[in-house]
Amino acid sequence: MTSSIKVAVIGAGTMGNGIAQTYAANGHNVTLVDMSQEGLDRGLAAIRKSLDRFVKKEKITQEQSDGIMARVAGSTDLPTAVADVDMVVEAVFEREDVKKDVFVQLDKHAPQGAILATNTSSISITAIASATSRPESVVGMHFMNPVPLMKLVELIKGEKTSDEVVARTKEIAEGLGKTVGIAEDYAGFISNRVLMPMINEAAFTLYEGVATRDDIDIIMKLGMNHPMGPLALADFIGLDVCVNILDYMHKQFGDQKFRCAPNMRRMVEAGKLGRKSGEGFYTY
Ligand code: NAI
Repeated sequence: MTSSIKVAVIGAGTMGNGIAQTYAANGHNVTLVDMSQEGLDRGLAAIRKSLDRFVKKEKITQEQSDGIMARVAGSTDLPTAVADVDMVVEAVFEREDVKKDVFVQLDKHAPQGAILATNTSSISITAIASATSRPESVVGMHFMNPVPLMKLVELIKGEKTSDEVVARTKEIAEGLGKTVGIAEDYAGFISNRVLMPMINEAAFTLYEGVATRDDIDIIMKLGMNHPMGPLALADFIGLDVCVNILDYMHKQFGDQKFRCAPNMRRMVEAGKLGRKSGEGFYTY
């Protein structure tokens, strides 16, 4: 196990609170940061709820749960929160301008030598790093949802990320009980570059009337031994997220194989975003 470090997680949403919980559960001291008090409160409440579930399932004791919670502080003041950390993990909205703004602030306020990681699922690490004066310290650390349960971290090397930062980040991720896969910095990395075309093709298969939703999902689920079918998975990820990632890869590679299925785009335009909005390919 790696020795305890100080971490700031920026963005207390779905991913940020899961990341904060995971670091704290492995003995690290975490400050969870959000731009709004409301977002922060929601993030801290989500951690408490998740820990309660672990206690109920007898995976951890109440005492351990209290110990984990005691290692998570909350803040809406980024400059102070990152002033003495060893590592930052950014998990704000998936928008390049928003992420770059955050990295400009990290560059200003985080100590030299701190690892500046981003949990982006598709944006170029090299582009994000270019907002700082220390691109060698910037690395992609792509956790999977739900973070406390999923075993993978996809680690992405930006154009200028140092070997030392890659090695140290890998070591820290392994200390969190994760297995690490490493990718070079091209749009979608490995996970989404391979996954999204499958989801997209499932949407096209539905669009072109090849099969019903249920037949597509049952064939992929049972035939390929996937835990769920691609359309159910798209609903779980969020259809807006899928469309954004596809559009980004389409733009970056200029390759028609990444063009988004019209039915999926139309659902997003109608506010059908999957599980989180109550309707997507399925109704919840
Ligand atoms: P989310 O929308 O649930 O949470 C984002 C949070 O960031 C919000 O609480 C928001 O208030 C906060 N935020 C936005 N701008 C901020 C700023 N400038 N300073 C501080 N806080 C700010 O988003 P989610 O789903 O947690 O995604 C976060 C990142 O993780 C994105 O880059 C996404 O692509 C990536 N990701 C998401 C996965 C998922 O399944 N949801 C899986 C893997 C990666």
